[in-house]
Amino acid sequence: MAKPVRKAVLPVAGLGTRVLPGTKTTPKELLNVVDRPILSYIVEEGRAAGIEHFVFVTGRGKGAIEDYFDHHVELEAQLEAKGKLDLLADVRRDLPRPGEMSFVRQMSPLGLGHAVWCARDIIGDEPFAVMLPDMLMMAGTAALAQCVEAHNRTGSNIIAVEPAPEGETNKYGIVALDGRDGRLNRMTGMVEKPPLGTEPSNLFISGRYILQPEIFELLARQGKGAGGEIQLTDAMAELMKVQPFHALEYDGTTYDCGDKIGLLRANVAYALARPELSEAARAVIQALL
Ligand code: G1P
Repeated sequence: MAKPVRKAVLPVAGLGTRVLPGTKTTPKELLNVVDRPILSYIVEEGRAAGIEHFVFVTGRGKGAIEDYFDHHVELEAQLEAKGKLDLLADVRRDLPRPGEMSFVRQMSPLGLGHAVWCARDIIGDEPFAVMLPDMLMMAGTAALAQCVEAHNRTGSNIIAVEPAPEGETNKYGIVALDGRDGRLNRMTGMVEKPPLGTEPSNLFISGRYILQPEIFELLARQGKGAGGEIQLTDAMAELMKVQPFHALEYDGTTYDCGDKIGLLRANVAYALARPELSEAARAVIQALL
């Protein structure tokens, strides 16, 4: 039986260059989608998948993330004194149980593979999840829970994938499959940001992974790949020589909050999905068209 997936790594050291200047002083992972920071949705998704411990790989200028996941004593006292108890509950909703979160620092921006490797001592010798916080995934059953279920069923490494928009396969990690039958398929390869025309499929790695701890030994030795960075995809391709990998086309919709239009699209979609906001959101959007 597959070992349970209890821990998740959240790489949050990126500079957010595609949404500057807002991200000069606010970590991009704390930008609001409607009224909650992106990380609030990600942690909620992780908890729905049974994650008990979140490891944030942070960097310089990201201290606000730790503050977000801590008490704000004055604010909470104010809300309580004024009887704004709904708001108080909402502010406290994302707080961790004591010890549920760890923060490690990636001291140089050497790539996603290096960021994940920075979490190795906290993860230890057990399978774990990686959640890329740029990618918000709206789904009936949490996207990561679908990955965990696929891992429990196969005992394999799992990578969430989905079809890339036409002409954009060179922006992502792309997987190769051993045939396509349903949503969960055995993989035969993967490549990070292949030049257009060389991609092995149209399925891109969309930001949720379940990995075995052996990945860390490979990451320790991994050289630079695409973009001169230590790529998680390259270490996974190595691991695939000795362990099975499955690609899961999860059931849901991904919103890439890492760029301007993606963030706007997420705001619109999440507002429309909120029962108490949906009607007003629809009215203002229509009025603008
Ligand atoms: C990273 C991964 C890539 C994946 C992408 C999803 O790339 O390396 O495989 O497809 O995230 O957003 P990055 O966006 O950091 O360049």
